[in-house]
Amino acid sequence: MSEKLEDIARALVAPGKGILAADESTSTIKKRFDTINLASTEDSRRDYREMLFRSTEAMKNHVSGVILYDETIRQKAKDGTPLVDIMKAAGSIPGIKVDTGAKPLAGPTSKVETITEGLDGLRERFAEYHKLGARFAKWRAVITIADGYPTWNCVKANAHALARYAALAQEANIVPIVEPEVLMDGPHSSHDIDECYRVTEWTLRTVFRELYDARVNLEGIVLKPNMIIAGQKSPKQASAAEVAEKTVKVLKETVPAAVPGIAFLSGGQSDAVATEHLSLMNASGPLPWALTFSYGRALQAAAIKTWAGKPENVAAGQRAFAHRAKMNGLAALGKWSQSLEKAA
Ligand code: 13P
Repeated sequence: MSEKLEDIARALVAPGKGILAADESTSTIKKRFDTINLASTEDSRRDYREMLFRSTEAMKNHVSGVILYDETIRQKAKDGTPLVDIMKAAGSIPGIKVDTGAKPLAGPTSKVETITEGLDGLRERFAEYHKLGARFAKWRAVITIADGYPTWNCVKANAHALARYAALAQEANIVPIVEPEVLMDGPHSSHDIDECYRVTEWTLRTVFRELYDARVNLEGIVLKPNMIIAGQKSPKQASAAEVAEKTVKVLKETVPAAVPGIAFLSGGQSDAVATEHLSLMNASGPLPWALTFSYGRALQAAAIKTWAGKPENVAAGQRAFAHRAKMNGLAALGKWSQSLEKAA
């Protein structure tokens, strides 16, 4: 595989392929395992992720890269093979989450707003992750919409941190996934779709300004934004067509064509809905960048439920994962339809 940043970025958004976000922190994966009454241990986390990465057909055909958590990039499969080698053998690029989480932003807004941490020592951590096989990375900034929020201080501080992270990643020859997430779920999620549009536009404009100031090479990044969608608690939910139209519009307004690809987070959308939105956007093309998925929950929900932590369900869990990966692969080409879900 080429080691050029631009080639890695393009490979991550290759036609019909997208990214598996399997970088849940130890506390987040515990929440996912709680739903199937499974204790989260080093072994259960390994068994679950090994099941996904050994889904060879899905990995080969639809998963360009996998975002890993620090524990996983160092972990070995049950038979002793490094998990990174298993995904590489399937042609999928290993990636790494490098932020250390969203923490309360000091000051009067700290009950609502967060700043993502993890810049200290990042140059050294990137050097180690590159040795461990990572060729791309992820940093997630979180922006909350609520009455009077976000503040400019929060948008600016998070965009600045994203740009500093992206510059350090590129220095280490690692493609940065730049992820500014305007939340659709959580305690403050009663905003409508137009408020999401307004805040996302503001956030993306600020992020690209900061990336420019930090001299980040836009041809060597992948943007991971939220879709333009009403908050989960909003009484006014928008149609799939409106979500697709407004998301494409805000991206055209704010994302330079030099960026090779945009890989969405799912953010709390149910799996088939996230697939439908992506497919509608791609069907509305032509677009200046590749549009694909970098889903966590929307790619894994069915697989976790089907597996349920039982060794005898591994093959069925892999089938559930392969189905979602295939549906999203089709959506990345604008070729998904509801009838294909039923045919499964
Ligand atoms: P979701 O698709 O579950 O939102 O996760 C994607 C991700 O990586 C969030 O940082």
